[in-house]
Amino acid sequence: QTVSVRQVLSGDVAAGTKVTVQGWVRTRRDSKAGFSFIHLNDGSCFANLQLVASKDLPNYEEGILKLTSGASLSCIGEVVESKGRGQSLEIQAESIEVLGLVEDPDTYPIQPKQHSFEFLRTVAHLRPRTNTFGAVTRVRHAAARAVHEFFDQHGYYWVNTPIITASDAEGAGEMFRVSTLDLANLPRNDKGEIDFHQDFFGRETFLTVSGQLNVEAFCLAMSKVYTFGPTFRAENSNTTRHLAEFWMVEPEVAFADLEDLAALAENFLKFVFARVLERCGEDMAFFAERIEPEAINRLEALVNSDFVQMDYAEAVRILQASGKKFEYAPEWGVDLQTEHERFLTEQHCKAPVVVKNYPTEIKAFYMRLNDGGETVAAMDVLAPGIGEIIGGSQREERLDVLSRRMSEHGLDPSTYQWFLDLRRYGTVPHAGFGLGFERLLNYITGLGNIRDVIPYPRTPGSAPF
Ligand code: 4AD
Ligand code: MG
Repeated sequence: QTVSVRQVLSGDVAAGTKVTVQGWVRTRRDSKAGFSFIHLNDGSCFANLQLVASKDLPNYEEGILKLTSGASLSCIGEVVESKGRGQSLEIQAESIEVLGLVEDPDTYPIQPKQHSFEFLRTVAHLRPRTNTFGAVTRVRHAAARAVHEFFDQHGYYWVNTPIITASDAEGAGEMFRVSTLDLANLPRNDKGEIDFHQDFFGRETFLTVSGQLNVEAFCLAMSKVYTFGPTFRAENSNTTRHLAEFWMVEPEVAFADLEDLAALAENFLKFVFARVLERCGEDMAFFAERIEPEAINRLEALVNSDFVQMDYAEAVRILQASGKKFEYAPEWGVDLQTEHERFLTEQHCKAPVVVKNYPTEIKAFYMRLNDGGETVAAMDVLAPGIGEIIGGSQREERLDVLSRRMSEHGLDPSTYQWFLDLRRYGTVPHAGFGLGFERLLNYITGLGNIRDVIPYPRTPGSAPF
């Protein structure tokens, strides 16, 4: 019976059972009494499983004494109550097959000590073997599952929107190019004819910045939908909050307005946090102990609190009245900076804040124009310690207004005819938001850098794993 470390340590397997366990060595300690204690991890849980190997095992000298941190093995043995401290169950090994030794233990990058996050980013292929990355990987999985679970429970369909696209969903010109129509530089075949196939069949295309426009089409048929996938931004921001490739969760709801959307965002975040607390207790305890003492408390508080809602205009008034010296002076018409967002959430409201109705000029073309035209029905959800984690809006559902706004933004109408069709044929009020999945994970884990919550971070100058 092959079992995971988690199955043994959680007591799923009764003491006295003979099992096979497989994994990677974290540490080996040899006692004078003729035993070696091997701590084994297989990723199934935070804790390691202790294997007790006697010197009487046939490969003790040749195999077991060569096991170092990072080596892999398969062990057959009996689950027994542990006499040692720190664990209740362990494995009395009957045989240990060494699967892979570590070539040169002294230069193995993941030593059993604390490494800096900066260093670990340079060995992104090995960092899943550390405590922190194991915990991040499990929490990321649990949060992603919770996202799907929430939407499934509330009647949403998951729609897979395209990665390669011709449209700039944010109208901000921050797209990575997939293919050009630069005819002079296209590859040619043996006959000298232009070979378009590596250039998306002769179309100018980009990596998507957001699945929103595509998911709106499904919203206006299926009512409640969401997309959850990778998105890309060609912004040259070398910060702890920006990635060139990140994952976004984007629900889109028909027959909904900004108030409905703010309520959805709050319920959604609370559900995901509650699930992670419920399913990842051990990992969250690690984050609270090693990374952010408040990691668990603040999630629990948030699950039980009410988010504060305010208009952008009020946020600016609060910032101006605060008497605080900001690097950028808060002023109506200028976007909130991270320092402003953090003041609102951490000092003024001491809670997540939903800021609504932003100035039209600083927001995207698709957001619904409010009466008077000075503001749009946009909202950002700001979280303490992070700033913006959700951005969304009620959408402009009126054909004439949307057409006008698109031409004001200089968007090529031919690329967006399909998007205007949604307003031509059976338009309805609808609204949606985008949650940066890695920003959510930064908030949950307390890890301060967005590069440390995604398996392979893509940033300016990052290693091309
Ligand atoms: O505010 P943004 O740009 O909104 C949109 O893309 C909308 N189309 C979403 C929608 O309404 N469906 O991005 C949404 C969220 C931000 O709040 C932030 O959490 C995250 O995506 N985000 C990034 N995360 C990591 N790295 C970046 N470069 C990010 N840019 C945005
Ligand atoms: Mg935004």
